Amino acid sequence: MKVAIIGAGNMGSAIARGLVLGKLIKAANITVANPTNKKLESLKDFNKELQVTNSNQIAVNDAEIVILAVKPWLIKEVIDKLTFDFHKQIIVSVAAGIPFSEYEQWTDSSAKIFRVIPNTAISQQESMTLIASHNASKEEEHLILNLFSEMGMAILIPEKQMAAATAITSCGIAYVLKYIQAGMQAGIEMGLYPQDAMKMVAQSVKGAATLILNNNTHPSVEIDKVTTPGGLTIKGINELEHNGFSSAIIKAMKASSN
Ligand SMILES: NC(=O)c1ccc[n+]([C@@H]2O[C@H](COP(=O)([O-])OP(=O)(O)OC[C@H]3O[C@@H](n4cnc5c(N)ncnc54)[C@H](OP(=O)(O)O)[C@@H]3O)[C@@H](O)[C@H]2O)c1
Repeated sequence: MKVAIIGAGNMGSAIARGLVLGKLIKAANITVANPTNKKLESLKDFNKELQVTNSNQIAVNDAEIVILAVKPWLIKEVIDKLTFDFHKQIIVSVAAGIPFSEYEQWTDSSAKIFRVIPNTAISQQESMTLIASHNASKEEEHLILNLFSEMGMAILIPEKQMAAATAITSCGIAYVLKYIQAGMQAGIEMGLYPQDAMKMVAQSVKGAATLILNNNTHPSVEIDKVTTPGGLTIKGINELEHNGFSSAIIKAMKASSN
């Protein structure tokens, strides 16, 4: 199976690297197109088998899957200039905020299109990737789900949930980073070295996430395990709530979904 990636920026390059590290697509079957050469050269340095080109059409010609990884305002222009075989080729767009109704106008009413929203942890193979499909078969949905599952966790959702899900994953990763930053500030004020504080908070966040994901437990269950009656943790948790912690996160995520 051949894959074309149009745009070798943050997302396009991260996807190319992720696919190379995965098992489903051989590096030699991935062609990345970008108008300038620097990012293509660094992809070649990463894996010599990867194919690179300055021509979007050359990348698309033999591809079964075409991943569009340019800025949202360039998607229409890129599609307009390309010749596709909409009966055979699957289009996967990582552009945020463009509904299927717009792709339909720019392509073909029967075109198989996926909207895919990874988050920046895709560069570490730890993305939470959202996928919505349009005109695709169950097999094609599984194929795209499996491809992006090689770069972290991927979930198929209805298009109407995309804005809410993007707020809690793509934007949400920045809120988690703010938590890590705030935790560092607290640690430094209490006398820890910044680098030590950063590792301590980041690993605690990773550990909390691993507890939830591995055990499939509700956060309340895990919180209960560390809140001794009259202990230090419950004092801190209540202080967080007095200062509107949960409310702030809910408001932030709702704001990011508009
Ligand atoms: N970054 C994220 O966290 C994130 C998350 C989810 C979705 N997305 C989506 O991913 C898409 C790409 O974002 P990004 O952060 O990767 O942007 P980016 O780093 O700016 O990458 C865009 C790439 O597209 C190339 N390009 C420009 N015009 C092109 C054309 N006509 N044909 C082919 N390639 C062209 C650019 O090349 P030059 O710079 O060399 O000119 C650049 O390498 C966006 O639609 C965004 O909404 C991003």
